[in-house]
Amino acid sequence: SDDRISRIGSTIRVIPDFPKPGIMFQDITTLLLDPKAFKDTIDLFVERYKDKEISVVAGIEARGFIFGPPIALAIGAKFVPMRKPNKLPGAVISEEYSLEYGTDTMEMHVGAVQAGERALVIDDLIATGGTLCAAIKLLERVGVDVVECACVIELPELKGRDRLGDKPLFVLVSSA
Ligand code: PRP
Ligand code: MG
Repeated sequence: SDDRISRIGSTIRVIPDFPKPGIMFQDITTLLLDPKAFKDTIDLFVERYKDKEISVVAGIEARGFIFGPPIALAIGAKFVPMRKPNKLPGAVISEEYSLEYGTDTMEMHVGAVQAGERALVIDDLIATGGTLCAAIKLLERVGVDVVECACVIELPELKGRDRLGDKPLFVLVSSA
């Protein structure tokens, strides 16, 4: 429908067998090299969220830190980094989540958000959905209303969308 989206999709490079055999890595660094595709990506999110009264854009380390801040600036929201463990210097709340092997932890600064705020969660990609689920849990634990999650790319075969339950997910590109 929007030819900006097919352009964006065409700038994402797929690298087979990275970081391990069998994985088709969706590389958004090539999207970032194309200023029109990068701007269109941000614009599409801004068009969707500018009138949704969102006060918080929560970006997930590392690649949510690329797309989140320009969206936050454009819609007049604050940016809150959701970080890997032991990176944030202040008091944090943490959420453990499962990976293919083992677990990881996501952290957010205490006091970064207030109960009742409306948040958008941003990352580059949803695979199994575990990462986005951890971000939603962290925000909801402190009373934030997570309005939607948004990613540039979805890997639909991994059914991460199902794991989010009825939490809305918006993606630009589906990697079928
Ligand atoms: C990748 C990707 C998402 C997450 C999606 O990040 O950027 O954040 O995996 O996977 P999931 O839906 O199965 O949870 P990664 O953990 O590789 O870290 P990085 O962004 O810091 O490189
Ligand atoms: Mg990531």
